[in-house]
Amino acid sequence: MDEQTVQRFWQDHACGDAQVGGLHERFRDDYEKFFTDYDRFRYQNESHLPACLDALNVAGKRVLEIGLGEGSDAERLIRQGASWSGVDLTAESVERVRARLMLRELPYQELRQGSVLSLPFADGTFDMVFSHGVLHHVPDIKQAQSEIHRVLRPGGELVVMLYARWSMNYLVSIGLIRRAALLAAFPLAKAGILKPIPTQGMLAAHLGNARKMGLLRYLRLEEFVHHNTDGPANPYALVYDRKRVERDFPSFRVTRTYKRFMHAPPLPVHRLPGATIMGWHLWIHLVPRE
Ligand SMILES: C[S@@+](CC[C@H](N)C(=O)[O-])C[C@H]1O[C@@H](n2cnc3c(N)ncnc32)[C@H](O)[C@@H]1O
Repeated sequence: MDEQTVQRFWQDHACGDAQVGGLHERFRDDYEKFFTDYDRFRYQNESHLPACLDALNVAGKRVLEIGLGEGSDAERLIRQGASWSGVDLTAESVERVRARLMLRELPYQELRQGSVLSLPFADGTFDMVFSHGVLHHVPDIKQAQSEIHRVLRPGGELVVMLYARWSMNYLVSIGLIRRAALLAAFPLAKAGILKPIPTQGMLAAHLGNARKMGLLRYLRLEEFVHHNTDGPANPYALVYDRKRVERDFPSFRVTRTYKRFMHAPPLPVHRLPGATIMGWHLWIHLVPRE
């Protein structure tokens, strides 16, 4: 898996477009309306997020955010008093975040297009690095964590959100329900009994992937997970537990983990309790080893 493939995917599938409609299509480049709608959706859907972000206590800290999406969290961190810098792999995200911060007249330090694999910042620049929903999409995670270690000052903190392995979404929805549904649909589609609309819909995209890759190979959980977190076209996604974090972030020591966000589509579990045990978002606080 090369970084160009990952970059192409995020450039063409800006986070948020799928949820509220495309900035360039449905919103006809009305950035203000788009950001307002997107933030409303985001903080209603992921209602734990404001409290998690507030608890980071970023006031007065030099914070680097990696992987910016639409810049909703960037805006919150800046409003909380962070001395904020951001980096994203895609020109699209950087352009959107720049537009947001200009429209809302928010101050920031630097906003760069670049990769976590080669961060465009000097050693020891930041007190905190924050990355939400990004590093599980980075195949060379050892290089990524080593770069983050380099730009953090000694005694700084890394806070990441990674998809949780021990979650309702991974174990039940992706691991069982979605795989079983595809296993049942594949022969029906092949026989022409099931005709999903080819240009729309998840099922058609998964059937297409399974045809290209071979059904059994596609259904292997290590393969299937890549295409069941951020859409069927997503090339790479991993799920994490504390042990895997410790293995993949050897330059850091884990100080705290907690889970949030009951999310396991198509299961209607959103309002059920239990997110702290089986939630999809695993938050991890880490400190650099000397
Ligand atoms: C799922 S979105 C998450 C965005 C935002 N943090 C959020 O929670 O909505 C992933 C973002 O990370 C960026 N990204 C992916 N790989 C990256 C890398 N190697 N370096 C920097 N950014 C990356 C993508 O371009 C995309 O904007």
